This record gives sequence, C-alpha cells and structure tokens, in this order.
Amino acid sequence: MAPPPSAAARLLLLFIAVVLLSAHPTTATASPAPVSPLKALGDDLLAAAGAPGFGEWMSGLRRRIHQRPELAFQEVRTSELVRAELDAIGVPFAWPVARTGVVATIDGRGGDGPVIALRADMDALPLQELVDWEYKSQENGKMHACGHDAHVTMLLGAAKLLQSRKDELKGTIKLVFQPAEEGYAGAYHVLQSGLLDDVSAIFGLHVIPNLPVGVVASRPGPFFSAAARFTATVTGKGGHAGVPNDAVDPVVAVSSAVLSLQQLVSRETDPLESAVVSVTMLGGGAAYNIIPESASLGGTFRSMTDEGLSYLMKRIREIIQAQAGVNRCTATVDFLEEELRPYPATVNDDGMYAHAKEVAEAMLGEANVRFAAQTMGGEDFAFYARRAAGAFFFIGVGNETTMDPVKPVHSPYFVLDERALPVGAALHAAVAIEYLNKQHVCS
Ligand SMILES: *[C@@H]1O[C@H](CO)[C@@H](O)[C@H](O)[C@H]1NC(C)=O
Ligand SMILES: [Zn+2]
Ligand SMILES: [Zn+2]
Repeated sequence: MAPPPSAAARLLLLFIAVVLLSAHPTTATASPAPVSPLKALGDDLLAAAGAPGFGEWMSGLRRRIHQRPELAFQEVRTSELVRAELDAIGVPFAWPVARTGVVATIDGRGGDGPVIALRADMDALPLQELVDWEYKSQENGKMHACGHDAHVTMLLGAAKLLQSRKDELKGTIKLVFQPAEEGYAGAYHVLQSGLLDDVSAIFGLHVIPNLPVGVVASRPGPFFSAAARFTATVTGKGGHAGVPNDAVDPVVAVSSAVLSLQQLVSRETDPLESAVVSVTMLGGGAAYNIIPESASLGGTFRSMTDEGLSYLMKRIREIIQAQAGVNRCTATVDFLEEELRPYPATVNDDGMYAHAKEVAEAMLGEANVRFAAQTMGGEDFAFYARRAAGAFFFIGVGNETTMDPVKPVHSPYFVLDERALPVGAALHAAVAIEYLNKQHVCS
C-alpha cells in the first residue's frame, strides 16, 4: 500500500492532470483515428487497381473479351488471352483444365501454408447483342450478357495485384478461370481435375446491374437455388384425328402431365420454402389431322435446398409416368445428368461469408455492403461451395444511366460500368490476402 502523498506531490499531480486535460482535445483533433490494417490493405489495393494505366489495362481486356464471346467449353481465345496475360504478369498456371480452363497459382510460401481459391467463369451466352457501342460483340448470336467478361478481367486484375505482393502472402492463392458456367457445370469438371483438392476456401463475384458501382451484396447460407432440367417423351399410338378411338393420344397425356406438375409447388411444397417447376417446351405432331405417335415436354425445376431438388426430381418422373399410364401411354423421363448436370444450391459458408463481408466493409464502407435476397437463378459456384468454405458475392456494375431501367443479365441490352473492374480486382485480392493472414494467426 502506498503512503499518502505529500502537499508538494499533490500539487505536482494536479499540475499533470491540468496539462493532460487541456492537452487532450488538441491531440484528439490533431491525429485522426488510426486506420485499421484491414482498411489500409483495402485502400492500398483499391488505389493500385485504380492507378493510371491499371484501369485502362482492365477495360482493354474486358473489351477484347466482350468483342469475341465464346460459348460453354469453346472458350479457346478467351483462355489464350488469360494465359498470355498470366505469362506477362509472371504467374504460373495449369492448362488445359476441363478443356479450356486455366488454374493459376500464386504461392507466397513455397507451398507451405493455407490455400484459397478465387474464381471467374469465362463463357458467354447464345444471344445476339443489341447494344450499339464501339466494342459490341463481333460474333453473331453470341454475347457476354452475364458479365463473365468482367469476371475474367477482375480476376486478371487480382492476379496482377497479388503477384506484386507475392512475398507478403502467407499461403497460396489459386486463380480459377473456368469454362462453361452457363448450363454445363464447368465448375464440376474443374473439380474433377483435383487441382483444387487442397483448397480450404473459395471466393467468387458475380456482376449485378441493379446495384451501383462500389456496392456489393450477399447473404450467409442458401443464396442461389439448386436447378435442374428434364425432358420427357410420352408415347401412345398414332392415328387418324377423326378416329381417336383407334389411336392412343399422347397429346392429351402430355397436357395432363403439364397441369399435374403445377401441383408440385402449390400442393406438395412447404409454402415457406422456395421451389419452381416450369414446363417450357412442348412438342408433338406436325399435321392438323394426325394424332402423333408421341409427344414431348421439358423444362426446369428449382429449389433452395438439394433435398427439395431431389424430391421434385422423383415426383416429376412419377407424375409424368402416371399421367402417361392413366392415358394408356408410356413415358420416358430424362434429367440430362450426363451433359446438363443438375446444379446444387449455392450455399455460402457462414464463416467465409463473414470474412468476405468484413473485408468488403473495410474497403467499400459498411453502407456499401448489402444483404442480398435469395435468387432462383442457378450458379455452378455451388459445386465449389460444397467442397470448400465458399462465399459468393454480387458486385454492382450499374450507374445512373444504366439503372433506369435496369437491363438485367441475360438481356441482349445488358451493359456494365467498367469502373467496377478495379473494385472487383481489389476485393478479390483483399479477400484472399486477409484470409491467409487470419489462417496464419490461427495456426
Ligand atoms: C455508366 O455506364 C455506362 C456503360 O458502361 C457508361 O457508358 C457511362 O459512361 C457510365 N456513366 C457514368 C456517369 O459513368
Ligand atoms: Zn448467366
Ligand atoms: Zn453468370
């Protein structure tokens, strides 16, 4: 226990207290609140990606890819461009992966340390571009209407940012340029290569035109729906349309099947769960007076859960076969699993989502990181998110002129503001760097 202070000591204490109190407001205004290391990282990366030359380089890449869109598994020139840029940056890569894919590796630790993957998809859509601009698609009937040209560019931007910080990386970053997101499950085929077996987390971005540049959005848990397709052929017995009793009409059987399928969502699905069954294709005879031998139907079905998708798959088969049977026909139902593999639900990992959100908030400001609604769109990022802790984020590419009205992805009028490219590159890089930093502290 300390003795009571003397009168002189008390005076001295009073003096110190007065000095401290009067000095405090001045020091507080003179030195701003310290910038967190995470915000400093974000600021640095954004500044580097926005530096003179860098943005132009990225816009140039995006325009070259945009002018020469290639469909699923045909991304030959796009893949060439990716490899040429990686060579120029000095980043090694594996190729071909799943036919046209490229997996690049930036390794700060000689293979010792955690591994995170960043992903971009490369394919375009079978759609005629109707936007008139200087760098319009030069391929008839093909268009980058889902922004995958921007995804490739953002990831190349990240490659450059990360390569220049290679020595500071506390692990390995794999950059995945994958083919065939649009319907052909390119992600599944990339995983088959085994190149991502050592990855513990994966991050991906998708452009979204109804958010402005500088804004991103996502949500933990189920985000994009599981999605699959079906086709069915119902066979009866053809005949003269004037003598239906001598025929077995597959058209009526198909019609009953279409109506019965509607009840899967309205009567068999929990109203609080999301599901879709859309019959989008019908085929039948070719003459007014002939009952055809067979008729066909097909469409898509979706659910927010993989279990929901399996249930719909089982019931779609049963309903079509039963409706065929009740109408004296037979049916074959095909889910096209070989070529058009069903996509699982894209489920964000809670921890990885929180990580990416924290990084995005530090870089873009809390108000610019929004909560996204679930979507019944499918996304093959789902395959990665089942194998590693995944976080998938929307990145805004809209501005005052493009957002009124919004031209959505998959529209022939889709446009994006290229100022989003540096944002995407910097965010990719920051999410990866900071992931490795955190893993390092933990281990
Ligand atoms: C908005 O985006 C369009 C499409 O890229 C672009 O042409 C336009 O210059 C952008 N507007 C502003 C204000 O930057
Ligand atoms: Zn798409
Ligand atoms: Zn897409």
